[in-house]
Amino acid sequence: MIDSPWSVERHADVRVIRLPTGVRAWVIADHAQARAALTDARLRKSARSLREIIGAVLAGLGHPADALHVMFSDHMAFADPPDHTRLRRLVGGVFTRHRMRALLPRVEAITTDLLDSMDTVAGPVDLVGRLAAPLPMAVIGDLLGIPAVDHDRLHRWTAVLMEEDPAQVGAASTAMGGYVADLVEAKRSRPGDDLVSALVTAHDDGDRLDPAELVAMVVLLIVAGHETTANAIGNAAVTLLERPHRWRELGRDPDLLPDAVEELLRLGGALRHTTYRYTGEPVTYGTTTIPAGEIVLIGLAEANRDPAVFDAPADYRPGRPRIRSHLAFGHGIHACVGAHLGRLEIQEALRLLTARYPRARLAVAATELRRTASPMMLGYREIPVLLRP
Ligand code: HEM
Repeated sequence: MIDSPWSVERHADVRVIRLPTGVRAWVIADHAQARAALTDARLRKSARSLREIIGAVLAGLGHPADALHVMFSDHMAFADPPDHTRLRRLVGGVFTRHRMRALLPRVEAITTDLLDSMDTVAGPVDLVGRLAAPLPMAVIGDLLGIPAVDHDRLHRWTAVLMEEDPAQVGAASTAMGGYVADLVEAKRSRPGDDLVSALVTAHDDGDRLDPAELVAMVVLLIVAGHETTANAIGNAAVTLLERPHRWRELGRDPDLLPDAVEELLRLGGALRHTTYRYTGEPVTYGTTTIPAGEIVLIGLAEANRDPAVFDAPADYRPGRPRIRSHLAFGHGIHACVGAHLGRLEIQEALRLLTARYPRARLAVAATELRRTASPMMLGYREIPVLLRP
């Protein structure tokens, strides 16, 4: 599940892959090098340069050059300091551990409702469609003030964007960008007690977000705020369902959850590799020099199984030494803003699931589960489970 199916060349320290968009990317996946790369200022993230590099490849292959623009728009994930610092500061205070702790009852209530609705299903239940996907969408939707009726289509557009198929992404980009622009306008005329309304009126040392940045920020929070967590919950559930005694153990003793969640993130964090960076100048890792103007990805999933850092890396060993060195949330200035929220959601989903259904098991062999087609995300399309076999 970790090796990228898009591998085309292997250099001494770095691998080159060809993404579905046709873009060639250099992947750094050794744990020590990956950690260094995550704080390497020579690996840049300016959205404008990324749009140029990726647009040229898309156009060369006969696709619209702007097909992926909703992704590579002016938000913090594709910005360097000082823009990155300014954009991140606008939401950094919202996603603190303290604030996220206060969301616990809401996350618990949403999860319980979803489990209640699963209870009525006869036969196998799809954990992705019934829990892993709707839970984080409902939570980020609540925070952003997005009506519940729109959650499904936002999830569908996000899934298309994540697959990076140039024939499909254009329509999803346009639809999602248009939806968010309308949402922003609706909040401007009728502000609510939500994050989009707060961002509309946001001042950062006197600077408002410009209109493009505002839409980009909301798109980023929707995409990053649910697809990652959805995949992480699904991956965690599969890891545990393959080890039934571990599943039951968590159901009996929720105090084990914090360590378990870290180990599950290490084994099945949602991102195979990071978002895009590019070399602003030639950059050498080990004995490999990556020329200027190339796309670079950091292979998080592979780094998280580096045997130099994690003994028997494929084993599930909660509480193992150096567990906090996993890179599932990245590292450095772009490390995940939503890490506290992501952890909270995974923990609640597992706590309530394992306690309510101690005998749950996969309805098919784990090897038969269909994976998502996204080059960046590691996850499953469906996870059929028998809740009370
Ligand atoms: C288990 C769930 C999650 C995982 C595994 C995850 C993983 C990551 C990773 C690896 C990065 C860094 C990417 C890079 O360096 O290119 C990142 C960044 C980010 N994440 Fe998450 N994430 C999760 C949940 C969330 C949630 C719930 C939010 C909601 C707010 C969120 C918002 C963001 C944002 C806005 C960034 C960009 C930060 C920046 O560039 O400064 N993530 N995430």
